[in-house]
Amino acid sequence: MKKLLEIKDLKVNFHTYLGEVQAVRGVSFHVNQGEIVALVGESGCGKSVTAKSIMKLLPTAFSHYKSGEILYHSMDLLKVQEKEMETIRGNEISMIFQDPMTSLNPTSKIGEQIIEGLMKHKKVSKSEAYRKAKELLELVGIPQPEKRMNQYPHEFSGGMRQRVVIAMALVCEPQLIIADEPTTALDVTIQAQILKLIKDLQFKLNTSVILITHDLGVVAEICDRVVVMYAGEVVESGKVEEIFANPSHPYTKGLMKSVPRLDMSRNESLYSIVGSPPNLLHPPNGCAFYSRCEYAMKVCQKHSPNLMEINTTQQTACWLYHPMANPVEKESMGGM
Ligand SMILES: Nc1ncnc2c1ncn2[C@@H]1O[C@H](COP(=O)(O)OP(=O)(O)OP(=O)(O)O)[C@@H](O)[C@H]1O
Ligand SMILES: [Mg+2]
Repeated sequence: MKKLLEIKDLKVNFHTYLGEVQAVRGVSFHVNQGEIVALVGESGCGKSVTAKSIMKLLPTAFSHYKSGEILYHSMDLLKVQEKEMETIRGNEISMIFQDPMTSLNPTSKIGEQIIEGLMKHKKVSKSEAYRKAKELLELVGIPQPEKRMNQYPHEFSGGMRQRVVIAMALVCEPQLIIADEPTTALDVTIQAQILKLIKDLQFKLNTSVILITHDLGVVAEICDRVVVMYAGEVVESGKVEEIFANPSHPYTKGLMKSVPRLDMSRNESLYSIVGSPPNLLHPPNGCAFYSRCEYAMKVCQKHSPNLMEINTTQQTACWLYHPMANPVEKESMGGM
């Protein structure tokens, strides 16, 4: 499979009055052509900062890319000038945010907004853009598109608005869509419809998708691969089946245990991982999950593990999977 995007050792810091927040600390993962990759992990682990880095949407005054590469078709986006980035955004890579209102102009009709987006990026006539806008609204399941094009965002329900945002993200047939919790603000049935829509579009147009979500049910249903983040790092990645059937990293195991199951009794309480992630102003030297990990060894406290291959498709950043980590040697590894 062809790699569309490859992030290598991305590090992003924020400058705050308390000091440097190390929001993303050496993230590496890739997205193949036509696949849906889930980015999961608890709040504050760096999912949105990673996503915004790909789009180069972080505020330059308060943040900087400390190191790394974001290769899109082998071109390093971190080295691309803002002018060129403006063409890439929307044309090649689009982002769908959690709140549709942040992407829509409340004072302009939906049709005008889509047509404007089209004419900005593509050399098309107004009538051609109108026809295309109507077609897009139909594609994302908005009934009576001609009538709806004449309406303002506030005349749409939350679910319909998010469909409009998806239509706008698709305007220039991007190769990659980054959806940052696209359904969190919507109710459950609408959520399911929007996710099915993303999946259908990915299938029809062979678009690649990075889907950021807290909902592991959604991941299981529509994603191909999963990248698990913790405290600004990738701790595990693999195919959906692997991550759900054989999670390797203790943090991923905890995440999986926290998913409600049908065979649970009503009074059984859901598992939650005790403790909280480290402060990214002063991240620890060792494994960031050390203080919460029930398998922690001495080595984990002092040395941060790199991603290691468990097999050709699954990787984990955990000392337990180091070739030397058998029960006897675990102790001796503590002296590393
Ligand atoms: N503008 C900013 N200034 C300082 N720190 C920031 C800023 N934006 C994000 N951070 C920090 O970067 C880290 C990662 O944040 P990010 O928004 O990527 O988390 P997330 O994984 O998307 O969380 P959530 O699931 O809540 O959306 C957090 O520790 C956050 O406090
Ligand atoms: Mg976020």
